[in-house]
Amino acid sequence: MSAAPIPDLRDVDLGSLDFWGRPAEERDEYFAELRRHAPISRHRPPEDLLGLPDQERMNYWAIVRYEDVRNISRDPKTFCSAQGTQFADAPPEFLEASLSFLAMDAPRHTKLRGLVSSAFTPRQVARIEEGIRVNARRIVAEAAPTGGGDFVELIAKRLPLVTISDMIGVPESDRERVVAAADLLVTTSDPEVFGERPPIEVVGEALWTLSSFATELAAHRERNPGDDLMTALVQAEIDGERLTHAEIAAFFVLLSVAGNDTTRHTTSHAMRALTVNPAQRRLLMDDGEERLPTAVEEFVRWASPVLTFRRTTTRELELHGERLAPGEKVVLFYHSANRDESAFEDPWRFDLSRDPNRHLGFGGGGPHYCLGASLARTQLRSIFGELLRVMPDIEADEPELLRSAFIHGVKRMSCTFTARA
Ligand code: HEM
Repeated sequence: MSAAPIPDLRDVDLGSLDFWGRPAEERDEYFAELRRHAPISRHRPPEDLLGLPDQERMNYWAIVRYEDVRNISRDPKTFCSAQGTQFADAPPEFLEASLSFLAMDAPRHTKLRGLVSSAFTPRQVARIEEGIRVNARRIVAEAAPTGGGDFVELIAKRLPLVTISDMIGVPESDRERVVAAADLLVTTSDPEVFGERPPIEVVGEALWTLSSFATELAAHRERNPGDDLMTALVQAEIDGERLTHAEIAAFFVLLSVAGNDTTRHTTSHAMRALTVNPAQRRLLMDDGEERLPTAVEEFVRWASPVLTFRRTTTRELELHGERLAPGEKVVLFYHSANRDESAFEDPWRFDLSRDPNRHLGFGGGGPHYCLGASLARTQLRSIFGELLRVMPDIEADEPELLRSAFIHGVKRMSCTFTARA
């Protein structure tokens, strides 16, 4: 038998959207080569859809190994976030209006994150867990009579939408509109999404929709305080000063985007993985509630819905024999880290017994580690607990993937199951 051909690294352009249009398994052939032979490699700037001037776009270093992604995430003094966190460049005013504390460093990051972090602690999430379960039960019960359809619309999208909207205090009537705009912010690299229009126009419009909605909601909560995150934000003070409406709007955009897409896409990828791995699914059905927490970690590792985040070096340093100057861009490839053979045995095996499972799906640790990790885990346990109880024979087809270097997204995925009243 001849050995599998080794992909030629010179053929790879990690910044091209065509590359990100390929299935994850195919992409990982290249990442596996990089992990083995070039743990840090320099690349030209990613494909630009927003029409930025060339001088604003820099080459970057690709970080593909588990250990490196982890270490860099935990060293914010050397690898900072305040000079941008997105793989693809965007105009500064867009970043300012959408990233909030994700693209800040201490001390501002610590203070802003601190304003909402108490709502996301495991203890606080445990308090709202019953509400999340009730919502999961309702979503699955509403889908049950249909016998199938698009899994994303029917199931995957719905629990994150209700959960984060409830927490922020978004009224029912505005939820779909808010989520549609939040989606656009992370999907404009896909031609299906921007269609005939320039991507920059689509992004600008979505940002405007979200920011003006957040400003109206903030003004409403100033007059009519409630028991939600928006009220907490309008009442909060940092160093004796209230947040401006622009700061609140950016906060809102960050939570809307981070709280929706990631959990949704994890749900879809996990459903497909359970379909093509019937033995694993049986394991989950047999052990039910007991296995769910371990299974959920594998769902997140498997899906790795966030593909990349970027940091900027603050000083000169050496990594795997390469010299990096201050101000260089460093991109963390989470999916690659989660398939690193030195960190996971047989990383392409979907294994619901994997334990320990120290995946980097929620980030590598450090100050920006996913604020919503407990919330996401709770939602994934609730939705899969319900799904497998009410629709034990549910099966999902091959997903239609989003073309994006940021979000490992599923646009659509048909599913079928025995309909129930
Ligand atoms: C499976 C679901 C999720 C995944 C895989 C995920 C992944 C991530 C990753 C990779 C980061 C960056 C970590 C770093 O830079 O070190 C992050 C940050 C963040 N996530 Fe999540 N996330 C998920 C769900 C959520 C949910 C439900 C929320 C709720 C609002 C949320 C809110 C945030 C926020 C606010 C940040 C920025 C934290 C900071 O900069 O301090 N995420 N997430």
